[in-house]
Amino acid sequence: MNLPSWLADLLVCPFCGGDLRLQSPSEPARDPVFVCSCGRSFPVREGVPRFVESDAYVSSFSFEWDIHRRTQFDENTAGASTRRFVEVTGVRPEELHSQTVLDAGVGTGRFADVVSSRGARVVGLDLSYAVDVARENMGHRENVGLVHGDICAPPFRPECFDFIYSIGVLHHTPDAERAFRSLVPLLKRGGSIAVYLYPRDASSRISDVYRRFTVRLPKRLLYLLCHLAGPLYYLGEIPVAGPVFRFVMPISRHPKWRLRVLDTFDWYSPRYQSKHTYPEVFRWFRTSGLADVELMDIPVCVRGRKPAA
Ligand SMILES: C[S@@+](CC[C@H](N)C(=O)[O-])C[C@H]1O[C@@H](n2cnc3c(N)ncnc32)[C@H](O)[C@@H]1O
Ligand SMILES: [Zn+2]
Repeated sequence: MNLPSWLADLLVCPFCGGDLRLQSPSEPARDPVFVCSCGRSFPVREGVPRFVESDAYVSSFSFEWDIHRRTQFDENTAGASTRRFVEVTGVRPEELHSQTVLDAGVGTGRFADVVSSRGARVVGLDLSYAVDVARENMGHRENVGLVHGDICAPPFRPECFDFIYSIGVLHHTPDAERAFRSLVPLLKRGGSIAVYLYPRDASSRISDVYRRFTVRLPKRLLYLLCHLAGPLYYLGEIPVAGPVFRFVMPISRHPKWRLRVLDTFDWYSPRYQSKHTYPEVFRWFRTSGLADVELMDIPVCVRGRKPAA
């Protein structure tokens, strides 16, 4: 993948906000580097600017997305990612045609795939090495750019995106509200931002108890244990006892075995996983100066617009 020139124009130093200068390598075997006047530099490997040196606290996602590279893509789920995008954001991907869009926490790129195939110019940002899976999935598209970086220190110019979405991501940072607030300045005036966060409910209180143990397990072992979600699913189908089982042993209820394993691992492995309520997220939007705040049917999905003036 080559670094798209339009992407380079959006980037700034995540530490000081300064302009970056792209330095070509002195030897062909070395990577180009973005250099800032504050003295910091950021390599560009395989066309992906790297603003972080590791996958920090999201190594479970590097592991998970390396296995499930295209499991959730539309072609393997009969269009489920497109439907999910519409449900969660309240926006049809066609409406984003020609717009510059940020996918904050792109993962393997199932939603960036949906949006870029309808003509939007999409930047996918991720802290995990899933960004390299996304590169393999979509790096050949001229309207897709990928960035290895942190939502909490985003390397983008203020007010450079027409639309920002972050689906199932902010609750995996140490402070979801702070992560949300770091995205708002990136939005153009008149642009919209849509987020999906996990809701707080009784069942997640139980799984939080299990998570204290599961997040400490070696990833391979936990992934192996998640294969039990295959047969255990049927216990949840038994009349009367089934609902009780489902309550005390929350596992994915996805009808497809492979997606059940993925979703169960995705639930029990991430280091951070906060839960939220509509009033709380609504308040984040209003106190960030966003208007026309809309709540979707699935909790907790909220969209708002930055006023034009
Ligand atoms: C559950 S996955 C969702 C991926 C994608 N949005 C989707 O729905 O398929 C959460 C993603 O958020 C990323 N993530 C978590 N914290 C992040 C941060 N601070 N900055 C950027 N990405 C982050 C993880 O690496 C992971 O790929
Ligand atoms: Zn700098």
